[in-house]
Amino acid sequence: MPGFATRAIKAASRVPAAPQPPVNVPIYQTSTFEVASAQELAELLEFALPGHSYSRYSNPTHAALEDALAELEGAEACHVTGSGMAAIHGLVLSFLRSGDELVIPRAVYGGVVGLARSVLARAGIAVRSVDTSDPAAVGAAIGERTRLVWLETISNPTTAMADIAAISELAHARGVAVGVDNTFASPYLCNPLALGADAVVHSTTKYIGGHSDLTGGAILGSAEVVGAAREIVINAGGNAAPLEAFLALRGLKTLELRMIRHSSNALAVAEALEGAPGVAAVGYPGLASHPQHALARRTLRDGMSGGMLALELAGGRAAGERFLDLLQVAVHATSLGSVETLCSHPASSSHRQFSDAELAEGGLSAGMIRVSIGLEDPEDLVADLANAAASTGT
Ligand SMILES: Cc1ncc(COP(=O)(O)O)c(C=O)c1O
Repeated sequence: MPGFATRAIKAASRVPAAPQPPVNVPIYQTSTFEVASAQELAELLEFALPGHSYSRYSNPTHAALEDALAELEGAEACHVTGSGMAAIHGLVLSFLRSGDELVIPRAVYGGVVGLARSVLARAGIAVRSVDTSDPAAVGAAIGERTRLVWLETISNPTTAMADIAAISELAHARGVAVGVDNTFASPYLCNPLALGADAVVHSTTKYIGGHSDLTGGAILGSAEVVGAAREIVINAGGNAAPLEAFLALRGLKTLELRMIRHSSNALAVAEALEGAPGVAAVGYPGLASHPQHALARRTLRDGMSGGMLALELAGGRAAGERFLDLLQVAVHATSLGSVETLCSHPASSSHRQFSDAELAEGGLSAGMIRVSIGLEDPEDLVADLANAAASTGT
């Protein structure tokens, strides 16, 4: 008879039979999986066999999220990662090697600029910033060594939009691929692959999770595109975690309901704040004043525009800082896409990597506030944000 320690480990490792399938995908909180032979493990590690070997490579809870996201984005394949940045890192590096060039939006999530400076520059990859709301400017920026054009469906934080279909067409004509960060739109409002993009990433930390309680990312596209990016994610150690994948799956179930409410709340706030005391401008694709309003109508679902606003305060940076101190309902915090309204000051947080000149070029002023409209009662949000804006000058 084996000793107590041996029996305890064996006894506590028995996976229960579950003849009735659980309604929710379980959290497979295991780093490793038992195999029958060295051959089986070797094949699993090469993805030559269905199944799982080690959770840095794959895990059943990750696989459930990958299947769900692939279906909702209309993608052949998906690989989930530990963060949105791990997804962007894996995807971008899979397209580029030393000497190549990446075209990015001038108004882009600051993490992409951080990636360019701290990782891509070391790898000898050059980055060119361009106004991606103008397809002709993107065409002009594509050079001999350009391999990938990076777009954000709705830019962080300005809400400028890219014409994914037009840019994909002109990039493909030059043999250049297009990758889209669809985080602000979510798979509910837009499916960039159907518009011609080659790859999509999400920070699942945002709308897909939806509750400010996980970090995660996803890469979507053809099996070939996702397979190449997956190799980089695995080797760089950017894997997802089973609990985070479980939370993202739970979030997905209410994504539609949340996006509808985020969109109607954001439109109500945008309309109320446009021209309100203390407010110089409101950037929101659902407003007729937005430069890409017609594009938003064409590419986002059912006239909705999501929950992200760029609020330009009349009093500049000082007003921006004061605005954040005055909030009673909205929370001053970075991140976005959650049930609670989150406000941040991009110039000192998500876009701190930008110089003043880069901020100006990207259409980001030092006084801009990024507002991620949550699911609270719209009247309370309008009152809170209008009051804070009006009080910034006093
Ligand atoms: C548009 C966008 N893409 C990617 C990211 C990075 O996501 P994560 O923080 O999950 O790495 C963010 C984070 O704010 C974002 O706003």
